[in-house]
Amino acid sequence: MMAGHEQKFSSDRVRQLHWDTIFETKDYRQVLWHQNSPTVSLELIRSYAKKDDSIIDVGCGASLLADNLIDMGYKNISLLDTSKISLDIVKNRLGSKLETAKYICSDIMHFEPTEKFNIWHDRAVFHFLLLKKERVRYFEVLKESLTSDGVAIINTFALGGQTECAGLKIVQYDYEKILQELPSDLELIKHENFIHITPKESEQAYSYFVIKRK
Ligand SMILES: C[S@@+](CC[C@H](N)C(=O)[O-])C[C@H]1O[C@@H](n2cnc3c(N)ncnc32)[C@H](O)[C@@H]1O
Repeated sequence: MMAGHEQKFSSDRVRQLHWDTIFETKDYRQVLWHQNSPTVSLELIRSYAKKDDSIIDVGCGASLLADNLIDMGYKNISLLDTSKISLDIVKNRLGSKLETAKYICSDIMHFEPTEKFNIWHDRAVFHFLLLKKERVRYFEVLKESLTSDGVAIINTFALGGQTECAGLKIVQYDYEKILQELPSDLELIKHENFIHITPKESEQAYSYFVIKRK
């Protein structure tokens, strides 16, 4: 029988291999979640973050969010993903454009922040957490990572939308469902549904949630 810590690392490893394989075998510009312009996230970050604020993109994949944030004048950007291959794609693409970027290869479940962030951004990561204990752990890590006045922006598939992403089951959310997941010291300050047009021109229904400490 596996000891607790072995189980923990074996499920991390499975997750990492799954995502590494995707980023190794597919063109990241063609995966269904890819956005040429992550407009909704950029607008939200612009409305909550000052230019010298620290921003972490959790489960960044090969997203163009960091490229756009740099163009907007943000410099203090950390990128976290379980897939080293996705981080290498971003690192090679950004090159010296973001010398100060921090690339963190870690499963979010076991991330131990060494600094606090003003903005926590997650697009299409939280919804993969199928177990209640994983979602509880996610919000523990989020709270350890956020400054006292920090803001978390979480994007998930919306109710009635996709039930799977990248071959994995997901949980759909609306504001009532996300409220059930929030620890008592966090509050939801804004939420909205929006449609993402995939690279194949199909539509996917997403929700975003903006969360702060009470
Ligand atoms: C659907 S993709 C979204 C990528 C990016 N946020 C975007 O909007 O393009 C999900 C990403 O989350 C990462 N991921 C999934 N589960 C994770 C976990 N438990 N810890 C860290 N990263 C994770 C995957 O490697 C992948 O890059």
